[in-house]
Amino acid sequence: MGRALYNPASEISVRAFSFDPVDSGRPEEALLENLRKALQRRKAAIAATPEGAYRLVHAEGDLVPALVLDYYAGHGVMQVGSAALEPLTHALVEVIQAELPLQSLLAKNDQKSRSLEGLPLEVRPLLGQIPEFVWVQEGSVRYQVELQKGQKTGAFIDQRDNRIRLQTFRGQTALDVFSYHGSFALHLAQGFEQVIAVDSSAAALQRALQNAQANGFTNIIPQEANAFEFLREAEKQGNQYDLIVLDPPAFAKGKRDVERAYAAYKEINLRAMKLLPGGGILATASCSHHLSEPLFYQMLAEAAADAHRTVRILEKRGQGWDHPVLLNVPETHYLKFALLEVM
Ligand SMILES: C[S@@+](CC[C@H](N)C(=O)[O-])C[C@H]1O[C@@H](n2cnc3c(N)ncnc32)[C@H](O)[C@@H]1O
Repeated sequence: MGRALYNPASEISVRAFSFDPVDSGRPEEALLENLRKALQRRKAAIAATPEGAYRLVHAEGDLVPALVLDYYAGHGVMQVGSAALEPLTHALVEVIQAELPLQSLLAKNDQKSRSLEGLPLEVRPLLGQIPEFVWVQEGSVRYQVELQKGQKTGAFIDQRDNRIRLQTFRGQTALDVFSYHGSFALHLAQGFEQVIAVDSSAAALQRALQNAQANGFTNIIPQEANAFEFLREAEKQGNQYDLIVLDPPAFAKGKRDVERAYAAYKEINLRAMKLLPGGGILATASCSHHLSEPLFYQMLAEAAADAHRTVRILEKRGQGWDHPVLLNVPETHYLKFALLEVM
């Protein structure tokens, strides 16, 4: 029928990358060709903004299953998530260097899912000298990416275009909840007098402050807190914000978590809706593929009803173009992003 990565010991035993039954080349050749094509699809964007950040390979979405490769201003960070792919690391690096030469390449193989594949958790250089962090341009702002110690591959590139989209909004106070290194806050700092960036990671907020300084912003206020407690307390205090961003981590890690995750998403959205005045904007996301798009919008509708607010959808968005979705692999469409107006 085709070719696939195979690991009988894994929860995902078969990961297909070719559906050509007559393909008679070396088994991995079709996979490496898919990698070449994925890199070629990003070349024009990188040539236009070499100091930007892009996902070069989005695993199944690019038919290179289990491989994630992100580009940060000339430096690469990759994650291998399958024991069948791991032995091909050297061949993958050769193709990457031939198509899109990088100054350095880090294998950030510390994701817990590797244990399910029987793979070690490790972070190791594959090419060049790995800098501690690199500066990346995103629209009109710059931010630093901590390559070795940051979350995921260092940054959340999937929200890049959604962050840039928020630059058009104006108001007095904005709230960026689950801010990481001040990502959305940086884009809101020009349009709002004050932006509060909330996250539970002190290290990420430390970088948020450095990012704000590097962009000349003095109106970003990092606040280390549990988002659930912060929102509860803000409601108790009767605080109001003109725009709120909610970009939580995946609350549903597996199918069995969906019910509990649904309640958690609803809680933060309901509270945020209560914190917005009429005309206020809620930019809200879920990156959990287990919470489907219909369920996400059902959750938002229930939150609005329970908050006794009339809410209008301004725009339905998702992950950036460099995170392609395979129609018949729903897991590849994981990021939901809604722009809502509370009336
Ligand atoms: C999906 S990331 C946010 C990405 C960020 N908005 C961006 O665009 O780069 C989720 C963030 O939530 C933070 N986090 C996780 N649980 C939290 C909690 N209970 N309260 C506050 N922050 C939390 C993590 O430290 C992480 O920075």
